[in-house]
Amino acid sequence: MPAVLFVCLGNICRSPIAEGIFRKLTAEAGADIHIDSAGTGHWHIGEPSDPRARRVGEANGCPMNHRARQLTSADFARFDYVLVMDSANMRDVLAWPGSRKEKVSYLLQWDEENDDLEVPDPYYGELGDFDMVFDLCYSACAKLLEAIQNSHLD
Ligand code: 4NP
Repeated sequence: MPAVLFVCLGNICRSPIAEGIFRKLTAEAGADIHIDSAGTGHWHIGEPSDPRARRVGEANGCPMNHRARQLTSADFARFDYVLVMDSANMRDVLAWPGSRKEKVSYLLQWDEENDDLEVPDPYYGELGDFDMVFDLCYSACAKLLEAIQNSHLD
């Protein structure tokens, strides 16, 4: 079973939104994929996702029950795809002990319509910023799922 990990800084906004979207899309597609998210930072370990993130998820049929956790070295062995949200995440993830750079990509790389690969950090923003994160992640998650399904055909 392919395994997919979404990574951002705090693991309370962007990566749990992407996780929630990807759970919904894989369920709809009947795909069997292990899905999780994690943060490079430790500040929010154990916390539920930001209420604004949960609100945009719920409004779009992607309920989020994730509790924040920090990335670990073991994640690079466990997961086949490690999707980061911005260039700071990319730098931190590539420098992580045990990092496997062939597994790491920007989430937005999977949607060729994106010129800019950054999912902007909405933490200090407003509700509209969370809507924008949702939309960016949604299109890229759909493309990612398609690519995974095509590459795991028997
Ligand atoms: P996220 O957003 O990386 O999308 O979860 C953030 C959440 C918390 C903080 C920064 C970004 N923070 O500095 O606590």
